[in-house]
Amino acid sequence: MKTVAIITTFVLAGILTAFYLGFSPGETTRILEYDDEQEGLEEQLVIRFSHVAAENTPKGMAARDFANRIQAKTNNEIKVEIYSNGELYQDQNEWEAVTNGNVEMIAPATSKLSTRFPNWQVLDLPYAFKGYDAVQDAYEGKIGQALLDDLKGTNVKGLGFWYNGFKQFTNNKHPIRLPSDMDQLHFRVMPGPVIKSQFEALNASTSELSFNKTYRNLEVGFVDGQENTISNIYSKKFYKKQAYMTLSNHAYLGYAVVIHEDFWEKLSKSQQVSFEEAMEETTNWVRRHSIEINDAHIREIKRSSDIELDVLTTEEVKRWRDVFKPVYNEAEQEISNNIIEELEGIQSNYSHQ
Ligand code: SIN
Repeated sequence: MKTVAIITTFVLAGILTAFYLGFSPGETTRILEYDDEQEGLEEQLVIRFSHVAAENTPKGMAARDFANRIQAKTNNEIKVEIYSNGELYQDQNEWEAVTNGNVEMIAPATSKLSTRFPNWQVLDLPYAFKGYDAVQDAYEGKIGQALLDDLKGTNVKGLGFWYNGFKQFTNNKHPIRLPSDMDQLHFRVMPGPVIKSQFEALNASTSELSFNKTYRNLEVGFVDGQENTISNIYSKKFYKKQAYMTLSNHAYLGYAVVIHEDFWEKLSKSQQVSFEEAMEETTNWVRRHSIEINDAHIREIKRSSDIELDVLTTEEVKRWRDVFKPVYNEAEQEISNNIIEELEGIQSNYSHQ
């Protein structure tokens, strides 16, 4: 009898507690009903931002920085979902994905657009830019504007350029200091006519392979080497499969940030303004931080591996520049004169350095 009374008391207490917490029209219920995360969800616009790089790289971090800024500026009216490491699309199909509206934003390496838009080849020319300021002059000056204008007429709008760094060579055969050291080597390359002709000038052969298949191809020895920025070599662990790395700084790798045009048109005027502000702030952020990220990654490579590092001397760089002259002659047939003149203007501004 006593047991029945205890059980009944417990059951009653349980029912009363549940009623108070879950079903009463009191204070607790009002708090549960209100959740500001849920506000305006039906109007929220989602940007699917696809890219092939790792998250701890200039592009990966810039994408995150941009997502935070645009969400804050639009009070969560615009949300960015980031798909990194080629999780959704690879180098070969990300352009189609954004033109078809399967994703809203991508940021491919500029060379990947040069196969469709010949003027874009200018950014891959070897030793075109003497340093970071020269790259900024190109990206944020008349050259950059002319290249973004080339995208008009597609259903993709060019938003601007993000920074990564200068490219370096790695390989598994022998140290590379002179152009002749490249003879007969086989390299993984990104697509791009200038990149192809750069390796032809060095008498090396190339295979265009997805960025995210490069590690495996280095591992099985299908290619002897590759060229990339330090942050890509580090984050994708290419250095673990390579015995030699040459700090050649022979060309710059940065990104074209583009958006599906129909999505852009759907934004209100004030959302477009917020978008442009966020884009400008992230561009400033990645311009500064890309240098630090690459510096940190070369320190980490030196600390954690026994890859041999060779730094080219000024005299050696001169030998490479001479070998690359035919690459310029070929590209100049394809790139508009105005852009070539602009590049020459930038080069003469930094020639004293
Ligand atoms: C990237 O940084 O987006 C990839 C570059 C590459 O394909 O090597």
